[in-house]
Amino acid sequence: MSAPQIDAERFLGRLDAFARIGGTAKGGVNRQALSPQDREARRLLAELAAARGFEVRQDAIANLFVRRAGLDNSRPPLLIGSHLDSQLTGGRFDGALGMLAAFEVLEALEDAGVETPVPVEAVAWTNEEGSHYQPGCMGSMAFAGGAIPAQWASLRGHDGALFSEELQATLAALPEAAMRPLGFPVAGYIELHIEQGPSLEREGIPIGIVEGIQGTRWLEVAITGQAAHAGTTALAFRRDAMAAAARGLGRLYDAIMPNDERARFTVGRFSVEPGAVNAIPQKVSFTVDLRHPETAALDRFEAAIGDTLAKAAEEGGCACQIRRIFDMPPAVFSAPLLERLREAAVETGLAWKPMLSGAFHDALFLARVAPAAMIFVPCRDGLSHNEAEYVEPEHSVAGARLLLASTLAALPG
Ligand code: GLV
Ligand code: MN
Ligand code: MN
Repeated sequence: MSAPQIDAERFLGRLDAFARIGGTAKGGVNRQALSPQDREARRLLAELAAARGFEVRQDAIANLFVRRAGLDNSRPPLLIGSHLDSQLTGGRFDGALGMLAAFEVLEALEDAGVETPVPVEAVAWTNEEGSHYQPGCMGSMAFAGGAIPAQWASLRGHDGALFSEELQATLAALPEAAMRPLGFPVAGYIELHIEQGPSLEREGIPIGIVEGIQGTRWLEVAITGQAAHAGTTALAFRRDAMAAAARGLGRLYDAIMPNDERARFTVGRFSVEPGAVNAIPQKVSFTVDLRHPETAALDRFEAAIGDTLAKAAEEGGCACQIRRIFDMPPAVFSAPLLERLREAAVETGLAWKPMLSGAFHDALFLARVAPAAMIFVPCRDGLSHNEAEYVEPEHSVAGARLLLASTLAALPG
């Protein structure tokens, strides 16, 4: 047995190969959860696994597990991984980096003939992004909860696709992957991911050891007024849903982020009905993505959003309805596992800094059932959820090397 090594060429080649699945003209990736492109990526991963003699299994929400056996296969596995789905106009690294690094770790262990006390599994969680079907992190959420929430059966994607049908088709597309229970005991979970923000790049540090994740809430808002003729209806008679939304959102943009530098407030999807040039909008619907490291602040801002939009709607003779569709409390990662990661970083000679994640990740849900932690690497200009997302090859490889060292350090005795 020799010391296991990341094969940089093989790993970077894999990143290129997966970037071609759903690859866009602008160099990004459109590989939405449970889409034909997602299925193609799952198939490629399963084929690569079979070629190395690793067992492939999936659960009822189509989380995909590649297992390298350990000395005692009755013990809970150590999981490493991320996701293969992408945003609609996503990048090549968000998810794929951590997933393919996890697979490379299995191959490195295999190449070196390392015997691990427990199995090590590379896992691709289903629908992390939440851009095709909401909420995000469906796979890890269902895994941690041990069940698929009943209300997901009737969910439709932004393209009208029925979640339950696409889930079944995705499972059926990989018949060689045996089914396993949804949720099982896990020794730990480590996820490598790109930072998706600028701090590592700005400071010239190749590694972030992530100690926790800020909380996220998603809201669905509908403001309803009355459609009427755009040219004939005087101000006093208008119940213009767009005017009410614009007024309310303007107040929120001025109040939330400028007064709390840790708050994040985003309206990323917006639709207008009936959607004619010359009709006053009867209804506008939009989403709110709200984030903060403290639950109390999330509560405060969510209440302010409700009050401000209701008041703006009322002033314009409209009604406002708000539904919370996603709630992820802030997560704090496992102190003992973080200590193993820090030791692994010292051993690999990589400079690192502690940090918090602004994006949510599957690790947040795994942290509810097992010791979990994350590793970040820099991305160019901090850009992510963008086709231009880019990671220097040396940073991808550094992240994979630390994932390998961390995996070895985190193995139970
Ligand atoms: C994950 O993609 C997030 O939106 O934080
Ligand atoms: Mn991601
Ligand atoms: Mn993402």
